[in-house]
Amino acid sequence: MSRASRFLRACRGLPVDTTPVWFMRQAGRYLPEYQATRARAGDFLTLCKTPELACEVTLQPVDRLGVDAAILFSDILLPLEAMGLPLSFTEQGPQLEPVRSEADIAALRVPDPEELGFVLETVRLCARALAGQVPLIGFAGAPFTLLSYAVEGKTGKQFEHTKRMLLSCPAAAHLLLERISDTIVALLRAQVAAGAQALQLFDSWIGVLGQEDYQVFAEPYLQRVLMALRSLGVPLIYFAHHAAALLPLLGRLPADVLALDWRLPLDQAAALLGGRRVLQGNLDPCVLLGPVAEIERRVRTILDQAAGLAGHVFNLGHGVLPSTPPAHAQAAVEAVHRLGARTGAAT
Ligand code: CP3
Repeated sequence: MSRASRFLRACRGLPVDTTPVWFMRQAGRYLPEYQATRARAGDFLTLCKTPELACEVTLQPVDRLGVDAAILFSDILLPLEAMGLPLSFTEQGPQLEPVRSEADIAALRVPDPEELGFVLETVRLCARALAGQVPLIGFAGAPFTLLSYAVEGKTGKQFEHTKRMLLSCPAAAHLLLERISDTIVALLRAQVAAGAQALQLFDSWIGVLGQEDYQVFAEPYLQRVLMALRSLGVPLIYFAHHAAALLPLLGRLPADVLALDWRLPLDQAAALLGGRRVLQGNLDPCVLLGPVAEIERRVRTILDQAAGLAGHVFNLGHGVLPSTPPAHAQAAVEAVHRLGARTGAAT
């Protein structure tokens, strides 16, 4: 079986020769070649908006690490900019002009995906350059996580503005969630038309919601987005960060793959989800900082815990940290492929 089909087969729960692996933020600051391309671009947003350079950094980890999938280089916040929220990146992280009232939200647009034409062009360039070597994953932020950035104007801490809106102005929150959902459905469809072969929704902040608020402000929009994308026929991955307390509810989502963090072992997570699911995850990104022998031991533990799943795609539980030695990321990929190999597997 070739490296080309491992990831897509595992997403479908089909037999594979060894466990496929890729890493969230596999293209990023820990790679010197990324730093060099980013310096040529000048800044992060220009890098995202220059398809030739964004394509270059998408491909960098594919050869260096030997991963089984490439992920489009872009950012989940760019669609918010296209909706009408000015975006910048500073030393403190992303900054957006926040929306706090129903009038602010009513002024936001559902952009035509062509307004994010640079993203679609990056997808086309990557799909052509990869030439079937490994599949390309497209992505978007999930509705609640994007709402939190739009309302806080930055990465939240206590999510006070967000929760105040959910509690005191739910109609405004629902309007914003609707616009965001429509925006990402159109964008993700366009990414698939441009050549993306799988899609991941990033819900980095879903874990700040309790079960009641999840059911009112997140679940209906996840259902809607995932259902709207099912007919595309590509695997749909939902990444729920820090969401162990929501697992009994997450099992209802029509995603092909649930991507989870390291806080709960995958076998325990599977029991809480109910049913047989394909899971993605869940090495703590900090493990890649440590000794290679410990990386190998932790990889083996995760592979053992994933043995009874309907399928497993190895990943980190969150993005690669900038201080990660590239050789350690490489060692993790090698360990997954070696220790995950099935004897007598169909080829
Ligand atoms: O995973 C990949 O390799 C693909 C590219 C990708 C980036 N961001 C590049 C990036 C993806 C899929 C994202 C998703 C993203 N962006 C998320 C969801 C995943 C998560 O991390 O929880 C979020 C919340 C964002 C928003 C964002 N972008 C923040 C908060 C920051 C600043 C924090 C940081 O890590 O610096 C970014 C910047 C960003 N996005 C960088 C990269 C490589 C670093 C930019 C740089 O070069 O300085």
